[in-house]
Amino acid sequence: MWWRDGVIYQVYPRSFADSDGDGVGDLRGITEHLDHLVWLGIDGLWLSPTFPSPNADWGYDVSDYRGVHPELGTMDDMDELIARAGERGIHVLLDLVPNHTSDEHPWFRDRRDFYVWREGRDGGPPNNWRSVFGGPAWTRDEASGLWYLHNFAAKQPDLDWWNEDVRDEFDDILRFWMARGIAGFRIDVAHGIVKDRELRDNPAAGAEDREQERWLGQRLTFSMNRPEVHDVLRRWRTVAEPHDGVLVGETWVLDLERLAEFYGDGVDELHLAFNFVFLLADFEAEALAPIVARTEELLPERAWPVWTLGNHDMTRFATRWAGDDAGLARCALMLLFTLRGTPVLYNGDELAMPDVEVPPERVVDPVGLLGDERRPGRDGARTPMQWSDEPGAGFSTAQAEPWLPYGDLSVNVAAQREDPDSPLQLVRDLIALRRAEADLRTGAYAETLVDGGLWAFRRGDGFLVALNLGSEEAAVEAAGTIAIATGRKRDGERVEGTLTLAPGEGAIVRLRR
Ligand code: GLC
Repeated sequence: MWWRDGVIYQVYPRSFADSDGDGVGDLRGITEHLDHLVWLGIDGLWLSPTFPSPNADWGYDVSDYRGVHPELGTMDDMDELIARAGERGIHVLLDLVPNHTSDEHPWFRDRRDFYVWREGRDGGPPNNWRSVFGGPAWTRDEASGLWYLHNFAAKQPDLDWWNEDVRDEFDDILRFWMARGIAGFRIDVAHGIVKDRELRDNPAAGAEDREQERWLGQRLTFSMNRPEVHDVLRRWRTVAEPHDGVLVGETWVLDLERLAEFYGDGVDELHLAFNFVFLLADFEAEALAPIVARTEELLPERAWPVWTLGNHDMTRFATRWAGDDAGLARCALMLLFTLRGTPVLYNGDELAMPDVEVPPERVVDPVGLLGDERRPGRDGARTPMQWSDEPGAGFSTAQAEPWLPYGDLSVNVAAQREDPDSPLQLVRDLIALRRAEADLRTGAYAETLVDGGLWAFRRGDGFLVALNLGSEEAAVEAAGTIAIATGRKRDGERVEGTLTLAPGEGAIVRLRR
């Protein structure tokens, strides 16, 4: 199964490569850069939304699920991308957004029953639900006097998943794209599409709740996270199966027991469910190792984990996790490719690219535009891919002003390809080693030591991975040869009983047998 053995790469299409010089990335740009992905060793591409959209939430507000956004190209460009990727053994996944549409989707006019409409309560909204982007989750329609639900922006009305016609439409959308050669879908807000049928008020959040719920002042118990969502996921699995389609869920739940449920019995719901407990944890051995161990324990027998360091919604990992420490960033990359599960790499993370400081007048993300310092905007992780240090960064023409500013151009693909010690070469070598060694793909994960910032685990019988995320030198027992060390000078070094690692250093040891 390619999605189990391979590596998936997330492309943010507006920011990957601009083939026509308008400052916005596009599908032809992606096609032109497929060889970068082949060189890296990528097996699957997840494209953030490519559908027509008024861009109130940069594509996550879809106005036609069977089309291509004109800024990104045409349907022919999409077919071409799927074909050229296919020739290179790369599978293309689209980003399905089933929780809501744009208010400019024709359904919002012609199929009002597709949405959640209610009478107000005491002159206000129907219940207390808050939008994840701030403010009430309801907006009143002047003409009818009714309120419609939007768990995100007012321009993103939520679909009513209790309506059987909505379910049929999406079955058809899945089939439409799989028939065109799409290999599967990342499913936006996969935990949240079904709402409480009675629209009960959400309970208040307490001090023990996570930051997002404290910020909202409530737990999203009834506005998202309903158990009936699993019926929809099982249904999609049966739709996807005949086409070998893979379903990867944005399962934004904050406990691992809940996460495990998205795999159903292991083979009847999502193929992969993103682990936000891992993603939101601190980059410390003592924080992460127990999450990995518990994930391993809880997932059903036939289920398969998926790991990632970040995505288009979070500060880039090199800044968020590694605090711009080069050694820690390399350790994070080593971790991503050595855990048991599918690695998903966000574009630019192969360069350990830091988050970009976007000046206030360039902010375009609806979350950034809230101007609430507790909710940092997401633009800093969405800036253009840096292919070179030339004007235009190899992303666009020199003249075009990109839709979001470039970062420090000394971090770029061309320079890192020249440098055997670069993060980019490390990523490539990690992927190649993973591909060559069955133990690193499917071998059991067994924690051997978590102490003083050091995290060591075995993969199968063949390998030991040791990462020193602490601030002191640390050691672990091992005998064998270093296959890859984050400081590349130690590749090939023999380890006779003890492996000693400097702070921010990691190594994969091929064990002597
Ligand atoms: C998901 C997307 C995010 C978007 C939101 C609403 O969380 O990843 O970018 O803003 O859904 O569609």
